[in-house]
Amino acid sequence: MNTKILLKTVTRLTASPKGILAIDESINTCNKRFEKLGVATTEEKRREYRELLITAPNIEKYISGYIFFDETIRQAAKDGKSFTSIMKAKGIEVGIKVDTGTKDYESILGDKITEGLDKLSDRLAEYKEMGATFAKWRAIYNITTTTPSESCMRANAESFAKYARLCQEHDIVPIVEPEILIDGDHTIEDCYQITAKNLDIVFSKLKSAQVFIPGIILKTSMVIAGQSAEKQSSPTEVATMTLKCLKEHALAEIGGIVFLSGGQGNEEATLNLNAMHKTGKLPWPLTFSYGRAIQNSALNSWAKNPADIATAQNLLVKSAQANSLASVGKYKK
Ligand code: 13P
Repeated sequence: MNTKILLKTVTRLTASPKGILAIDESINTCNKRFEKLGVATTEEKRREYRELLITAPNIEKYISGYIFFDETIRQAAKDGKSFTSIMKAKGIEVGIKVDTGTKDYESILGDKITEGLDKLSDRLAEYKEMGATFAKWRAIYNITTTTPSESCMRANAESFAKYARLCQEHDIVPIVEPEILIDGDHTIEDCYQITAKNLDIVFSKLKSAQVFIPGIILKTSMVIAGQSAEKQSSPTEVATMTLKCLKEHALAEIGGIVFLSGGQGNEEATLNLNAMHKTGKLPWPLTFSYGRAIQNSALNSWAKNPADIATAQNLLVKSAQANSLASVGKYKK
């Protein structure tokens, strides 16, 4: 493990005023989004869409890294340039999702365990050869009266620790992504409790596996009420509760913290991040790593009018710029 390389990558990824763009939807997830909009679910269509996202002019002003899916990291633009070489020319870091998805956890209804440790070391070596400098592994937790169970949280945390160790052995920065899902009618306090408990479990496993903590990035969900909760959370509430939770339950020496948008409205995700930065100086770099909140408007426009790449790219860059402003507390509605 070369800690200097890891720290350099963390610094580049969290450089203000930038954030990370997640375009690592699996083939299934991408197809589902295409289907809803009437786009053909072919490899070529997915390539065409990703080319639009990757070649958007000037996006490098706002985005420090893109997270790819296995299919995407192997693809190239129409003119033959590989996607990874386009990223390199723009000075954008290449990331790769390396978990292989989730399956039901034991007999606990609603709990999910993330898989992907099989041959992970070989896969990391290959991705590194292709230019990847960081990776992502996501676990999901459903808030219900019976989930997430402590045993599932522990099992996922163990996989996080194994994954993070392996990444660091390959000088790849691991993004550790425990996502508390926004589905359901839980309160913001419920979300706080579960997030806090889970972060304690995750960091304790990372520590005991001797993961180099300054060389990882935590990608987390915000502390927020469930999407169908009676009382929805305001940006001030989200900012206060999320920062309190992270200050008390994430290790201070962590390389950086980024957020997923997780089904929040596009602008809601921006306003919430902005509110956190309005509170003043924070103990760690804190920015975005959104997928849907940045892509939504571009995807909708392209689906309606696939020939008009420029408009879709313009919408993408506008969303990235709005979140870049939010990452320094300067976004205005
Ligand atoms: P969303 O911002 O769409 O939640 O995606 C981010 C991500 O990478 C989820 O794993």
